[in-house]
Amino acid sequence: RRHKVVVCRDLGPDVMPLLRERRELELIVWPEDKFCDRKWLLENIPGCSGVLVMLSDIVNEEFLDTCGPSLKVVSTMSVGYDHVKLPALAQRGIKLGYTPDVLTDAVADLSVMLALMASRNAKQTLSVVQNGEWPSFSWAPFAFCGRQISSSSQKRTITVGFLGFGRIAKATLARLVPFGINHVIFLSSPKSKRDSPNECAEFERQFGVKSVRRTADLQELARESDIVFVLAPGGPSTHHIIDEYFLRAMKPTAVLVNPSRGTLVDSDALAKAVHEGWIWGAGLDVVEGEPNVTADHPLVKEPRCVVLPHVGSATFETRLEMASLAARNLIAGVLGEELEHELGLQSYTSP
Ligand code: GLV
Ligand code: GLV
Repeated sequence: RRHKVVVCRDLGPDVMPLLRERRELELIVWPEDKFCDRKWLLENIPGCSGVLVMLSDIVNEEFLDTCGPSLKVVSTMSVGYDHVKLPALAQRGIKLGYTPDVLTDAVADLSVMLALMASRNAKQTLSVVQNGEWPSFSWAPFAFCGRQISSSSQKRTITVGFLGFGRIAKATLARLVPFGINHVIFLSSPKSKRDSPNECAEFERQFGVKSVRRTADLQELARESDIVFVLAPGGPSTHHIIDEYFLRAMKPTAVLVNPSRGTLVDSDALAKAVHEGWIWGAGLDVVEGEPNVTADHPLVKEPRCVVLPHVGSATFETRLEMASLAARNLIAGVLGEELEHELGLQSYTSP
């Protein structure tokens, strides 16, 4: 018997053969080059053993009940899983495959890029050239000045704050250490197994910075940081964790960088914060309500707000790895083998 699997997006000529060459699979692929249509999906998933989804496909009770008891695995081509209702999967004993690690470098690169773009007025300066206005701006002592995020002379104290301190945050910090960052403050959920009593001292040695401090106080993170990186999972538990109260506590010279999920940030409060100068600027790869974010969005209109269309992992190298890992997770789950990257759902089984 062949296992029916549904793939919500064509993964391209380098990865689709991984799935097509498996004789055990009966493959159904969403045929268009746009978001998988929900109606099509619900018509095609009944009786399937596995589904490969994008972060735009909502995996909820309706989805799982429509698949029926044959479903063994959901494989998402993303590191984030806020589109997946974890307790519903856990209750049904369905495995969730995802794609951590392979995108860490690409997203960390983009995080640094966003910090630089936001602090150095990239949006305004690019538009001056784009609009043909360069001839009317001569090089002037303080034209287009932004904030400097480096201090190789170590004369300035630069504190980088991380909301969430997982793989991507650490890779971002590693990239910034040569900029002369000397202090780090982070707030993250205490459930990580690798945390030890000396974790901060260990991080200081690992990254070669003067001080690393964990805080449980969002206000303290906001007050002390010159750059705040939001690198935490989305979902209800982190909804609008960056709110007006947080933004008002930030330094007027500081920038906020969000490469994770738009739902963590209250967009209206952020637009107001940048517009009224509570903070210097923001670099966003994600916005609440995306992809329905148009040119008249308050954040898009803000000159000191750099908004990118969720491209953190978008390098050919990384997307190829994510797609093939998602395909391998799907195959393994359908065949009852161990997944390369399975999200543990144990903590979601109890009500
Ligand atoms: C991208 O946002 C991802 O979750 O992989
Ligand atoms: C800038 O181009 C400088 O020469 O200082």
